[in-house]
Amino acid sequence: MKDISAMLTEHSQEHLLKVLDRLEGAEREAFVRRIEQIDWDMVELWKHPEDLSGKGRVRPITGLTLKEINEKREEFLQAGKQAIAQGKVGAVLLAGGQGTRLGVNGPKGAYDIGETHSLYIFEQLIRNLQDVCKLCERYVPLFVMTSELNDAETKAFLQEHGYFGYPKEYIRFFVQEMAPVVDLNGKLVMESANRLAMSPNGNGGWYTSMEKSGILKDFRDIEWLNVFAVDNVLQRIADPAFVGATILSGKNSGAKVVRKNHPYEKVGVLCLEDGISSVIEYYEMTEDMANEKDAEGNLAYCYGVILNYLFKLQKLRDTVGKKIPIHVVKKKVAKYENGETKKPDSENAYKFETLILDMVRQMETCLPFEVEREREFAPIKNKTGVDSVESARRLLALNGVKL
Ligand code: UTP
Repeated sequence: MKDISAMLTEHSQEHLLKVLDRLEGAEREAFVRRIEQIDWDMVELWKHPEDLSGKGRVRPITGLTLKEINEKREEFLQAGKQAIAQGKVGAVLLAGGQGTRLGVNGPKGAYDIGETHSLYIFEQLIRNLQDVCKLCERYVPLFVMTSELNDAETKAFLQEHGYFGYPKEYIRFFVQEMAPVVDLNGKLVMESANRLAMSPNGNGGWYTSMEKSGILKDFRDIEWLNVFAVDNVLQRIADPAFVGATILSGKNSGAKVVRKNHPYEKVGVLCLEDGISSVIEYYEMTEDMANEKDAEGNLAYCYGVILNYLFKLQKLRDTVGKKIPIHVVKKKVAKYENGETKKPDSENAYKFETLILDMVRQMETCLPFEVEREREFAPIKNKTGVDSVESARRLLALNGVKL
């Protein structure tokens, strides 16, 4: 066994030596195991939160516009339906987040957005997927990523609701990994007297966790994975036109995008970085880039990503073990100190997260596939205001969903 005390000292975490001395039995074992698993290179990153330098030469990317998609819809639909009917497409629901902005304690998908009757977020997403299954006469395997914090609750909730009518044999769960949390001076945070504070490691680790879990072996025909967020209740999942267009494009991935509302809208934008597909965050854009126009006078960087991607499995397999950027994010984290765990009023800690948008670069080629915002984008991040339960309800009603 490694010398844990020496390890803590080497990494300036002497404040935990007292904890180590005090713990016994199973609690000590669990604590030691957590410490042994820490990626210290990652923890060191707290010294450089959000180092944004190092972007290559960024250029606009050409995508499929709504008009082009409508002109070729039949061709795309046919190719996509065929791939789905042959079992080549799986869907991956990213449900490992904590939904802090929405203020939920349990899984975000278990949140009820109904007004006159219950309508859970998971329920609406499964309904959306069922539409495609009916059209293609084939169930799409649904992989649900949870975290250690919500795995049991997510499974219990879906079981209790009969998986909202989706056949259980087409659903698999896998758990994402956790990362430690440090305070603003780089010290590992305790969440209770005996346990380190850990947090889900972001949505960029989904494929590594999925591959490790071995669940893909049950569905050997899968060639493409459509990955989507838990909170966009309007999104089309395994959308045959999107699947078909991406396959026919010969690219390794596709991204559903909405046209930016204005130059400074706070969305990540699909672009080319040194000739390779990439997503640039709104805060990484210069004034000139934000306002650059194409030949028709439209915004040149116009394709905002909505966290709905299609990835080629073969290419994903090539990325395993390759480094993906780790983002250091300042958050409010409940901390154990002086005998009690307290929730802070302001950001008091750094979390370490990888982001799915960085996988677009790993894919090297990506097809921007434009969708209508009012038809496919109703994210629920907050209770009220922008991207909220309120705005999502309005958009669902607009699309004929009874609430
Ligand atoms: P968000 O970035 O909106 O995070 O996740 P969140 O945890 O849901 O909400 P906040 O920021 O705490 O308010 C976008 C998508 O990525 C998933 C979320 O479940 C959501 O589908 N996600 C996020 C994970 O699966 N794991 C993570 O570690 C983070």
